[in-house]
Amino acid sequence: MDEEEQGRGDAARGADEGSLNYLKGGELSLQSVRAAHLRLQMGKMPGDPKLTYYVVFFPRYSTSPFSKLSKVGIRHPPPLPFIGNLLFFREGFWENHTKLITEYGPVCGYYIGRQMFVVVSTPEMIKQILVTEFSNFTNRTKPNLISKPMLDSILCLRDDRWKYVRSLLAPAFSDTKLKEMTPLVNQACDVLLCNLKVYADSGKAFDIQRCYNCFTLDVVGSVAFGTEVDSQKNPDDPFVKNCRTFFEMSLFKPLLILILSFPFIMIPLVRILPNKKQKELNGFFIQTIKNAIVFRDQQDAAERRRDFLQWMLDSRDSADSLAAGCFDVISPSAASRQNKAPLAGTAPSEKVQKKLTEDEIAGQAFLFLIAGYETTTSTLSFATYLLATNPECQEKVLQEVDEFSAKHMVPDYQNVQELPYLDMVIAETLRMYPPAFRFTREAAKDCVVLGQRIPAGAVIETAVGHLHHNPEFWPEPEKFIPERFTEEAKKERHPFAYLPFGAGPRGCIGMKMGLLETKMTLLRILQKFQFKTCPETEIPLQLKSKATLGPKNGVYILLESR
Ligand code: HEM
Repeated sequence: MDEEEQGRGDAARGADEGSLNYLKGGELSLQSVRAAHLRLQMGKMPGDPKLTYYVVFFPRYSTSPFSKLSKVGIRHPPPLPFIGNLLFFREGFWENHTKLITEYGPVCGYYIGRQMFVVVSTPEMIKQILVTEFSNFTNRTKPNLISKPMLDSILCLRDDRWKYVRSLLAPAFSDTKLKEMTPLVNQACDVLLCNLKVYADSGKAFDIQRCYNCFTLDVVGSVAFGTEVDSQKNPDDPFVKNCRTFFEMSLFKPLLILILSFPFIMIPLVRILPNKKQKELNGFFIQTIKNAIVFRDQQDAAERRRDFLQWMLDSRDSADSLAAGCFDVISPSAASRQNKAPLAGTAPSEKVQKKLTEDEIAGQAFLFLIAGYETTTSTLSFATYLLATNPECQEKVLQEVDEFSAKHMVPDYQNVQELPYLDMVIAETLRMYPPAFRFTREAAKDCVVLGQRIPAGAVIETAVGHLHHNPEFWPEPEKFIPERFTEEAKKERHPFAYLPFGAGPRGCIGMKMGLLETKMTLLRILQKFQFKTCPETEIPLQLKSKATLGPKNGVYILLESR
C-alpha cells in the first residue's frame, strides 16, 4: 500500500483520486475531525477506535498527495494541508505564474486541493504536450460538475467523443461558413455604432467594455442561437437576462478556467450554487435552441438564416459521412507551423456519421457563449486601451482604415484581409493580454517529456502569460510594438512562443471567428471614431486573472467622432 492509500481515512475511502467524491470525502472528514477535537477536549478520546484512526491518519490524509511532484523532481511552493497552494493564487494567476516560475523553474508545479498541476512555460515543452505527445494529453480535466448543455460542448468532451464532435464541427468554422456569417457580425456592428455615437456626442468618459459586452452577446445570440437582440437597449430581453444571470451566477466567472482547467477547488464552490436556478437556466438555453430548430424546420430552405445554428442543423439532416482527419484546426501561417508535428491518433479512425442530437446542437451553440463571449469582449477592450494609450499606433491604424474606406463601401470577409497593420495590432494585443492565458491538458499515463517525468493524472498548465512576456522571445515585453508581427519577425521566432489560441488538435476552433469579429468591429468603430484617454482612464490597466484575463475595472475612455 503506498503512502497515499494509507493516508486516507474512513471518510475518504472508496473515493476516486482527482474526482469530486475525493474532495467530498475531505469535507466530511473535516467535520468528523472537528467533532473529534471537541470530544478530545471533553476527555472522550480513549477507547474510541474510530477516533484514534482519524487522529492518527487524518493529518497524513490531508497532505498525502503532496509528495507526488517532488517524487518526480518537480519543485513547488510548500502546500498547506487540504488546500495545497491555493493561497499562492489568491490574487489571481497572471503575476503569480511568473512568480512561481521565477522561483521554482520553467517546469514547476503546485497543488490546488489534492490535485497536482504541472506548469510548463518553455516553447519546446509546450509543443511536446500540445502536439508531439498529444495522444497522452488529449483531454482537459474531468468535467465532474458540469451539466447540459455545457457538458455536451466540445470543450468538455473527452477522447473519442471529442474527436467525433470536433471533426463534425470543423466545417462550420471553415472560411466558407465564416464568409456567410460576416453580414450578421456587420449587423451587430451597426447596432454597436449607434450605441457608441451617443457616448461620442456626450463628450463624456465611459466604460467601453460594457458596450463590447452587449455587442458580443448580440453576436452570440445572432450567430449561435438564431436570436436577434440589441442587448444594450433591451436588457430585459429573456435571452440577455439569462446570459447575464449565467455569468453572474458563476460567482468566480468559471468560463475558461472551468472549461479549460477545472481546478478541483472550484468543485465545492460550484456545488453550493443554487441548483434550481442553474436547472432553469440550462433549460432556457436548451429550449431556445429547440424552439429555433422547430422554427427553422418550418421555414423554406431559402429563407433560413446562414448562421452557425443552421450549419449544425444541415449536418444533422445530412446523410453524408465525414472522412476521418478533417481537422481544420488552425490555419494562418504561424498556427500551421504549430501543427506540423505528427498527430498520431488524433482523428477518428473510422468514418463518422454526420449526425448531432438536439441536445448536442444546444451544447455546441452554448460554447459560443462560454468560449467566445468573454474572450472576444476582453480582446476588444484590451485593443481599445492599447490604441488609446499608444496614439502613434492608433494614427497608423486610422490611416490604414481611411485607405480601406476609400476603396471599399462595406467591409466583408474578403476585403478585411487588406488591413495588415490592424492585424498586427490585434496580434500584439493578444500577446500582451491573452484572455485565455492558461489552459490545461491531463496526463493519461505516466510519461517522460523531454527528460521530465510526468505522473498520470497530473494537470499540465501552459503559462501563456509568462511565455508572452518572456524577454528571451519578446524584447521589452511591456511595450506595445505591433511590428513584432511582421511576416519576417514571425519567421524568426519559435512558433510556440506565441499561443493566444492554444495549439495542436485541441487548439481554439473559434480562432478565425474571434479574429474576424475583433477586426471587423475595430474597423467599423475606427471608421467613425477614435479612442482618447481621459483622467478616468486607468493607466496602467488593472487586471483580473482568476479565470480569464480581463480588465478589472472596465476600460474608461473618451470617444471622439472623426
Ligand atoms: C479572441 C477570442 C478567443 C480567444 C483568445 C480564444 C482562446 C482559446 C484558447 C487559448 C483555447 C484553448 C486552446 C488549447 O487548449 O490549446 C480555446 C479553446 C476553444 N475555443 Fe477559443 N478563443 C477565442 C474565441 C473563440 C470563439 C469565438 C469560439 C467560438 C465558438 C471559441 C471556441 C473555442 C472552443 C470550442 C475551444 C475548445 C476546443 C476543443 O476543446 O476542441 N473560441 N480558445
